[in-house]
Amino acid sequence: MIAEEVSRVVEKHADRRGALISVLEEVQQKYGYLSPEALQAVAEKSRRSLVDVYSVATFYRAFTLTPRGKHHLCACVGTACHVRGAPNVVQELKTQLQVEPGETTPDREFTFETVNCLGACALGPMVTVDGRYNSNVSTAKVRRILDKARMGTQGEEPASDERNFPITVSCPKCHQSLMDASTPIDGHPSIHLETPMNGSRGWVRLSSLYGSHNCKSQAEIPLDSIAPLHCTHCSEELHGAGLCPECGSPMAVMLIEDAGILQLCTRRGCNGHALDLNEPEIAGRPSTRTAG
Ligand code: FES
Repeated sequence: MIAEEVSRVVEKHADRRGALISVLEEVQQKYGYLSPEALQAVAEKSRRSLVDVYSVATFYRAFTLTPRGKHHLCACVGTACHVRGAPNVVQELKTQLQVEPGETTPDREFTFETVNCLGACALGPMVTVDGRYNSNVSTAKVRRILDKARMGTQGEEPASDERNFPITVSCPKCHQSLMDASTPIDGHPSIHLETPMNGSRGWVRLSSLYGSHNCKSQAEIPLDSIAPLHCTHCSEELHGAGLCPECGSPMAVMLIEDAGILQLCTRRGCNGHALDLNEPEIAGRPSTRTAG
């Protein structure tokens, strides 16, 4: 059964560069972790040595060789979050989940981990659940975060008529505005970023209308390629905390002015994105949403 599924996944990614990582991501997504049988099947079907497959599976933090909980919960313990109260938040999570960082709850509901930075220091303490950000987390908020994850209500789809509204974003590293009024898209200032292109960096401008996928770029970005997004001011890559819920590719992250966090899939052609808002309402919309 595993061998058949792995064979299908290996075939699907046969023509792609870095196929092994994509194969392992998809197999892990299907089974929740990379079992010895799954790794053996990946090695056989992709005609690689088991040592090669194990070395990739153990090198990247995103892969796990032990079963994970249904929800992946990650608390930031970096300096900025630490001084804003992360140790108390971590203690509260440990108390409520009854596990230590790195462990999975006995009911397999949560795997709890800590990291040193989630790239949104100004909004700490940060906790992500399944790659979605929760900002300014206090001990009082911990119960609500866990309940929302258990009930599956932390990423509800908005009604289609609520999808389009303008947002203003800044870099989570240097906090400078990424908005460019000189090149509007959809009648609003565009989001000005950079991405590797033809051996150097080229510009990308995205629509700031949430729900619109219109964009322009200095040169054509091949369909299906990963285009990491960089700040035009500090040049830092805008690494997101999780993987795209649509295709499993890395996400890029930006701060929404005084309101929360926007994550976008970096794979050209995928429209996966997520919006996590601090406040109960922004422009009259619900507090958390995702859209494909
Ligand atoms: S230190 Fe916590 S997000 Fe950077």
